Amino acid sequence: MKLLAIETSCDETAVALLELTRFLDGGFLGEAVLLDLVSSQAKLHEPYGGVVPELAAREHIVNLPALVREALASISVADIGAIAVTQGPGLKGCLLVGLCFAKAFAFARRIPLFPVNHLQGHLVAPYLVEPKIELPMLALIVSGGHTLLVLIPQVGDCQVVANTRDDAAGEAFDKIASLLGLPYPGGPALSALADSGNAKRFDFPAALAADPSSFSFSGLKTAVSRALPSSSPEATFHADIAASAQDAIIRALISKTEDAVRRYRPKTLSLGGGVAANRLLREQFRHLGVRYRIPAIVPPHRWCTDNATMIGAAAALQIRGCPELLSNWQLRGDLGPGVPFSLTAESRFPLGT
Ligand code: KG4
Ligand code: ZN
Repeated sequence: MKLLAIETSCDETAVALLELTRFLDGGFLGEAVLLDLVSSQAKLHEPYGGVVPELAAREHIVNLPALVREALASISVADIGAIAVTQGPGLKGCLLVGLCFAKAFAFARRIPLFPVNHLQGHLVAPYLVEPKIELPMLALIVSGGHTLLVLIPQVGDCQVVANTRDDAAGEAFDKIASLLGLPYPGGPALSALADSGNAKRFDFPAALAADPSSFSFSGLKTAVSRALPSSSPEATFHADIAASAQDAIIRALISKTEDAVRRYRPKTLSLGGGVAANRLLREQFRHLGVRYRIPAIVPPHRWCTDNATMIGAAAALQIRGCPELLSNWQLRGDLGPGVPFSLTAESRFPLGT
């Protein structure tokens, strides 16, 4: 039996197919991934320097059925036994496109629907590469919308041990890139420019060093804007700014993760979210694991940035923990175990709610 997973929380339309039977029979979640499709809208939003929510939602309306059709080219629709969809957090209009599509699909096919918290998706992504994870796990989730350190003491339990007070780490990359005149999305452009810069030239602060439960990145953006000269700087100036700013962001991320490692003594570390595509962060995160002799799982890029496989994985783990979710389900005017038709998108959706 196959699970169809849908992700439309921001500017990536994503669809995945997972072979549930193999996974429920004791297989490895990574092996259960049959198809992993992502259609990025980056080009559409580039002229605006950021995601335009209304345009993103409209684009999902066009892209989502096309991706599902592509997924169904390889299998029969009758083989799909369940559907998973991101319920939040994210842009409300975008989430509603995925959610309404999933509800209609579930109703038409008489299959159960599993609404998934997008952050939960990022948290389970390590299970796609590592079948057996020793808990407690400490996860660093860094994206355009979130900067979280999450402790998972046992299956089904999670505690947010650090959060950002203002901008998310990805947002800091994007805003500083925009100050330097780099194209959207700024994160990859800023880190590419940083490769040729001197990270020691500017001493940008890693804020709130004394507070292990808070990140803050808005001051860094201000510090960068103050460092920019009014006249044209020499050729390497922007590269040095990019390298120094990237260094300050990564320093803050790694030092708070290290604080949490000392405090909570996790048995596994994991990294997720779009910023986890950053080469230097990946290296330093792995290095932290080596220093503390803790396995550090850094999934491949496609499962760090927004994707539907992680949404399917979160639903698959729910089902594996409680297989009756599938077998007990019958159509009673709802969409599956306790899921009503009135289920709606949650633009703010804290973990554990
Ligand atoms: O998780 P994600 O794909 O979408 C959400 O925000 O949920 O993360 C996107 C963020 C953007 O802020 C983007 O600039 C950042 O991840 N990003 C990077 C890199 N690649 C993507 N930031 C730094 N270095 C990168 N290589
Ligand atoms: Zn995300």
